[in-house]
Amino acid sequence: MNKKTVSTISKMKKDGQKITMLTCYDYAMAKLVSSQDIDSLLIGDSLGVVKLGYENTLPVTVDDMIYHTKAVKRGNAQALIVTDMPFMSYEITACEAVRNAARIIKEGGAEAVKIEGGIEILDKVKAILDAKIPVVGHLGLTPQAINKFGGHKVQARQDEAQKKLIEDAKALEKAGVFAIVLEAVPADLGKKLSETLSIPVIGIGAGKDCDGQVLVIDDMLGMFTDFTPKFVKKYANVGETVKEAVKNYIDEVRSGKFPSQENTYK
Ligand code: KIV
Ligand code: NA
Repeated sequence: MNKKTVSTISKMKKDGQKITMLTCYDYAMAKLVSSQDIDSLLIGDSLGVVKLGYENTLPVTVDDMIYHTKAVKRGNAQALIVTDMPFMSYEITACEAVRNAARIIKEGGAEAVKIEGGIEILDKVKAILDAKIPVVGHLGLTPQAINKFGGHKVQARQDEAQKKLIEDAKALEKAGVFAIVLEAVPADLGKKLSETLSIPVIGIGAGKDCDGQVLVIDDMLGMFTDFTPKFVKKYANVGETVKEAVKNYIDEVRSGKFPSQENTYK
């Protein structure tokens, strides 16, 4: 499989091919997922919730993002590696935004960064792009704004909010972002935005007409079950498989069935 780049992702939209993205946080999973021709792996700051057990993504640090990006990078075969910029790593000044994005690229080995927000962070997005770092936007439900939204709710249901979101997306496109993740919005808005923009719109809870889809791997494998948004489809029940395996191990150790002859050195 050929290594996928930002250009691959851009071309896929032009060719009408759906883009596939999954989150990934470690070496072993990166190896498994990238063995299947996935287009992009996202080291999402969702790792704070699904891997570190925080209540939301706000405590995640740039160091956390770098640590997990390095692990994914070592296991990746062909996918484009995109890493989230965590809360407060890009909002304060354009200078800090570039410095943190640069660390994610140089130390982590990511090939692009993803940033939540629209026009209000445009100067930071431009500064990062000027530093030759590709950027993915993120609009709709932006989980780093959880305290502003008052929870994880579907966004842009009203006409006014939809107009604002489209303006944000157009501004990001004009600035030079190469794709936009669109989270938890009505499907008709996902369709409209995908038709309006020439860059790919990668949806998560934004309907079937987006140019691509992304899911959190722990959600779609049934590994993380503390809460499951409506937009998640469970493609496996790995959580149950783990519990079953652990139960069998405990039973066999206690009964003396494990280790048997074949797992024992003479
Ligand atoms: O952090 C994350 O996993 C994300 C995806 C849900 C798009 O940003
Ligand atoms: Na994220």
